[in-house]
Amino acid sequence: MSDHIMNTYGRLPVSFVKGEGCYLYDEQGQRYLDALTGIAVCGLGHSHPAVAQAISEQAKTLMHTSNLYGIPNQEALADKLCELSSMDRVFFSNSGAEANEAAIKIARRFGHTSGINNRSIELPTIIVAKNSFHGRTLSTLSATGNAKVHAGFEPLVPGFIHVDYDDMDAIKQAADSNDNIVAIMVEPIQGEGGLVTPENSYLQDIRAFCDEQGFLMILDEIQTGVCRTGKWFAGQHSDIVPDVMTLAKGLGNGFPIGACLAKGTASEILVPGTHGSTFGGNPLACAAALATINTMQEQKLDQRAAELGDYFQQGFKKSLASLITQGVVKDIRGKGLMIGIELAQPCTELVKRALDKKLLINVTADSVIRLLPALITSNAQADEIIAIVSELITAL
Ligand SMILES: Cc1ncc(COP(=O)(O)O)c(C=O)c1O
Repeated sequence: MSDHIMNTYGRLPVSFVKGEGCYLYDEQGQRYLDALTGIAVCGLGHSHPAVAQAISEQAKTLMHTSNLYGIPNQEALADKLCELSSMDRVFFSNSGAEANEAAIKIARRFGHTSGINNRSIELPTIIVAKNSFHGRTLSTLSATGNAKVHAGFEPLVPGFIHVDYDDMDAIKQAADSNDNIVAIMVEPIQGEGGLVTPENSYLQDIRAFCDEQGFLMILDEIQTGVCRTGKWFAGQHSDIVPDVMTLAKGLGNGFPIGACLAKGTASEILVPGTHGSTFGGNPLACAAALATINTMQEQKLDQRAAELGDYFQQGFKKSLASLITQGVVKDIRGKGLMIGIELAQPCTELVKRALDKKLLINVTADSVIRLLPALITSNAQADEIIAIVSELITAL
């Protein structure tokens, strides 16, 4: 691999040059079954014809203008996302971290302008969770609850208090001891943190507490959103609507796009001059996202993700039954097609062993196998994934 690439990733010894549906092909033409989809990005599988066609047609028509002008695709995409999520307005970005930057800026400006109970907040502070991941820009890495992500980048951006995840008392205590709280920001399932799946009541309790206190509830759905968990947005499993919600990964099926959605007062906080992005929501990115969302809606892929997620859970529970009894497999969890298998020992080497078997998987938090297969994965492909992963765990 070229020495001219900055050394920010530990890369596997393979380069893909072609993709089709659930398969990727390397330079030698060997085929790999993809159970990771670029970390929850290509929900429709690789090179989906509807997305490829939308990008190609839009590229030939108009790629970029500027947010100084109206952008019909952006308006259509915002309307569609608001219809699906019950949110009111959208700011488009190019990545997840940038969508979270917008969310953090909304929360801070909300503190300064609207305030909490008519009290303007001078040092707006957001309660975030330990073990979380919100991105790699300075404010999103500061929001992230992981010392490894912070290390070497101090001073961190102030204004974040980290509390235990899935612990409502910890949130209440933090709010009690700080007069500057303006928002609570969490992931519905901690993806990078090891597929940590809270009780459904956790999000409902946060929603109720935010309503009571006048805080904004910010849901980072960058990994969980866009049908991944078996609903359009994971917060819908708990029947809640946040004040601010961020999306990215699955939104453009591989075309870079992020979105920060807001509701009610939160949707009116950013006004001209307060935020922006040159590329955010340009005609090309929005064409890709519109094709992605429309295809998912036409094919009811939210329902398919729920169904297939159950199929995976049952399949793994069956094939790993004896290892579960022996305590080698500690837990099988997740929602829809966000599947985590926690082992009693570190297992990062399984990623390379799976690659040798032409299967792409991921391990997060050292001992959690993470599967994020395409929403279009067939039952036969699911069987193959279950068989290979179970075999690898057994051999470990
Ligand atoms: C929950 C969550 N938030 C934010 C991000 C950052 O997104 P991006 O890498 O597009 O900046 C990620 C990426 O893994 C994520 O999983």
